[in-house]
Amino acid sequence: MASGMPTPKRGVMEIEAYVPGESSVPGGLEPIKLSSNENPLGPSGAAVAAFKAAADSLERYPDGSAAGLRQAIARVHGLNPDRIVCGAGSDELLNLLAHAYLEPGDEAIFTEHGFLVYRIATLSCGGVPVVAPETDLRTDVDQILARVTPKTRIVFVANPNNPTGTYIPFDEVRRLREALPDDVLLVLDAAYSEYVRRNDYEAGIELVATTGNTVMTRTFSKIHGLAALRLGWAYCPAPVADALNRIRGPFNVSAPAIAAGIAALEDRAHVETSVAHNERWLPWLTAELEELGLIVTPSVANFVLVHFPEGKGQDAESANVALQARGIIVRRMGGYGLPGALRITIGTEAENRATVAALQDFMAGTGR
Ligand SMILES: Cc1ncc(COP(=O)(O)O)c(C=O)c1O
Repeated sequence: MASGMPTPKRGVMEIEAYVPGESSVPGGLEPIKLSSNENPLGPSGAAVAAFKAAADSLERYPDGSAAGLRQAIARVHGLNPDRIVCGAGSDELLNLLAHAYLEPGDEAIFTEHGFLVYRIATLSCGGVPVVAPETDLRTDVDQILARVTPKTRIVFVANPNNPTGTYIPFDEVRRLREALPDDVLLVLDAAYSEYVRRNDYEAGIELVATTGNTVMTRTFSKIHGLAALRLGWAYCPAPVADALNRIRGPFNVSAPAIAAGIAALEDRAHVETSVAHNERWLPWLTAELEELGLIVTPSVANFVLVHFPEGKGQDAESANVALQARGIIVRRMGGYGLPGALRITIGTEAENRATVAALQDFMAGTGR
């Protein structure tokens, strides 16, 4: 007879549970939430209307294949809908990929400050996380390649990366793919791709189309402002889509999320307004923070990583306290191994100005 308590499988207890961005501040202040890279303009009105309309038939299961949503994604992005798999956020898809392709003891490579879900997904399958150093907080293809072994099964690259905001050009992504063994799945996490305004950037569609071993993941949580609904998608080679469809929950995406997702995709004006907002305020916030003497990692996404000086009471932790005292919530970076930095999401104009004003006072020693 078995004795003792049930024991989670190998790897599970090594996981440090993901800590989401905070959403409340002490003292009952109305929070300015700049901690989770959400869209400060909110979702498209059409998406909200579609979500509300879906409330009329909550007794029905959703379409398990999310065909309407896949067709809408395919139309907007010029893709084959059969190779799209939808998920409850791209988090779910990243986890499904790990579960489909990692046996216990297999290795998954990601970068030093890569998105934390890669580690969690790897460990939860009994896989071995392998960390590749970055260069200047940027993905370094050679460092990744130097860590490939016969046990490597997946390479996760967020492009642009969270929390650094940096990206690598398509040439580099292609060089990575060409140098990786064919049986290694390259997962390009393009959660922030819509924000990137660089001619040498490509989210991954081309590589998925031209190789049999590359997947791109996308989300409705960022540019589409639908984080609450948990909606993401992956563009895959046909055999990868087949594998994911076998292991995903049969109704892993809810009907209200499908309806809102379709409406959000079709509202191109809202996407463009959201991109334009970011294009205006990302450089503004970067310049204002640099003006205060802070170091800002150049970002192509909807957030900035800001480095604070150690000592003199101007460190990141003290800055966080000063911001919180004004109701401003940003993301502390200790969990990412960057305790000297804070990550700040681009907010509305008023939120951006309030953040700069608070940090001006903090740096001048009058805001603590
Ligand atoms: C790089 C990256 N990938 C994936 C996600 C997950 O997004 P979601 O699960 O909301 O689609 C995030 C969210 O912060 C992210 O920053």
